[in-house]
Amino acid sequence: MSIDFGDRVAIVTGAGTGLGRSHALELASRGAMVVVNDLHHPDADGPSTAESVVSEIQANGGLAIASHDSVATPEGGAAIVATALEAFDRIDVVINNAGIVRDASFAKLGVEAIDAVLDVHLRAAFFVTQPAFVHMKEKGYGRILFTTSGAGLFGNFGQANYAAAKAGVVGLANVLAIEGSRYDIRANVIAPAARTQMNEGLLGELTDALDPELVTAMALYLVSESCEQTGEVYSAIGGRYARIFIGLTQGWFAGVGAQPTADDVAANIDAIRDETDYRVPTDVSTEVEELTALLHGDS
Ligand SMILES: NC(=O)c1ccc[n+]([C@@H]2O[C@H](COP(=O)([O-])OP(=O)(O)OC[C@H]3O[C@@H](n4cnc5c(N)ncnc54)[C@H](O)[C@@H]3O)[C@@H](O)[C@H]2O)c1
Repeated sequence: MSIDFGDRVAIVTGAGTGLGRSHALELASRGAMVVVNDLHHPDADGPSTAESVVSEIQANGGLAIASHDSVATPEGGAAIVATALEAFDRIDVVINNAGIVRDASFAKLGVEAIDAVLDVHLRAAFFVTQPAFVHMKEKGYGRILFTTSGAGLFGNFGQANYAAAKAGVVGLANVLAIEGSRYDIRANVIAPAARTQMNEGLLGELTDALDPELVTAMALYLVSESCEQTGEVYSAIGGRYARIFIGLTQGWFAGVGAQPTADDVAANIDAIRDETDYRVPTDVSTEVEELTALLHGDS
């Protein structure tokens, strides 16, 4: 095996079931010490889902510890990171995976459903990742993965709260990629689809094709030492892997000193939208540099 996590410590949130469980098991099978985080469901008999995953890892000779703190509060995020440091003394990998859905069409979306979903997906990404990032900066190494969704990147009826939260983590990853670059900290985003409890009965004829393990292959590459990419988004669905990006078109320049009107924009909307020779900016300076060149008549 060339991708190896020996001596690495990984936190996987929401790892009692579904994709997180699959990520945790595969990380452990490749040598990582894993904090298996998930809520302790109080009505469950016997061990929690996180404890069951830990037992599975230990039965295979791996090292893991359960954490039942919620990702959705600053205290919970700090406690998850503290569990990793107390048990294993370092943190190399964070996979932000925990998630819930509270779907409703936008006109009917209530505040509780907005708050709950933003808390678990977006605010949690800050609460868990920030204390880990501070530690990674000190050590000069880190791999961070956020979990987005096609709903957030492309849109989906009835998921305004979920989509906004899922698009938000892309912005967070963009900045962590920049701020982490000097410390060998890389931050990427995965857009999965898989057969889990979250979408039970919703996948139709694709159900059998959407094994969670097919997503884990991409997730583990993105948190491996050998991953050179940062600030990028990858789709992983049913064995098809692809890059998703935000591009900038060549656009239409009105000219130095021009005062274009809405009518001028309308007249040029096709050129503004034309995808020929688009670029994929890696930070906010791309547009500034391009405008500077246009104003100087360099292009
Ligand atoms: N399954 C898909 O097709 C799909 C598609 C796009 C995105 N995703 C995303 O992938 C991630 C994993 O989803 P899944 O499909 O495996 O669902 P899942 O329901 O099996 O797993 C999510 C886990 O997160 C846990 N969780 C919820 N709130 C938590 C909290 N406050 N603190 C800690 N853990 C919490 C849940 O208990 C659950 O075990 C989610 O972020 C989801 O939005 C999934």
